[in-house]
Amino acid sequence: MTKVQLVGSFLQQWAEEVGMYLYDRRIWVKDPCWENSKWHSSSYRAVDEFEYIYIFWKPGITKVKRSRLSCEEWAAWGSRGVWNIPSIRRNDRHEAEFPEALADRVIRLLSDSDDLVIDPFCGSGTTCVVAKRLGRFWCGIELSEHYCKLARRRLNE
Ligand SMILES: C[S@@+](CC[C@H](N)C(=O)[O-])C[C@H]1O[C@@H](n2cnc3c(N)ncnc32)[C@H](O)[C@@H]1O
Repeated sequence: MTKVQLVGSFLQQWAEEVGMYLYDRRIWVKDPCWENSKWHSSSYRAVDEFEYIYIFWKPGITKVKRSRLSCEEWAAWGSRGVWNIPSIRRNDRHEAEFPEALADRVIRLLSDSDDLVIDPFCGSGTTCVVAKRLGRFWCGIELSEHYCKLARRRLNE
């Protein structure tokens, strides 16, 4: 028997162990990029066409500048729980590269200029590229030397 393991409660538990609390979560709806795969017809389990974004905050006072986003952006996605952003279906860089629009939303919603953005699994460097463009300090960590080189190249472009 196969079973699905929900990871959200583990993340919440581990965060609380280091003094951070779950403040918010969003759902990123990708497009059904697996619709033509063989699993489409041989299984009735849902395909992974969305991902959770968990937002943890440190205790203490955090000021949120409403001016981070325009009124239209607050209405369209700043205050919305579900974000529809097409995934990158195919590229030659990284099989799990995510769209710049996703990094852009998260960084602009949750940080200000000169804040530090860290991506500990930075892959092809999408988060760092967008953070740099938005005037944030950035730090990317990546296991693969190949992807490190790729991220550096993107950042230097
Ligand atoms: C889902 S991908 C990230 C893709 C990235 N968001 C992008 O747009 O290219 C996750 C990355 O984490 C890296 N990774 C896995 N385990 C790691 C670890 N322990 N430390 C650092 N990086 C790790 C993988 O090599 C992979 O490139």
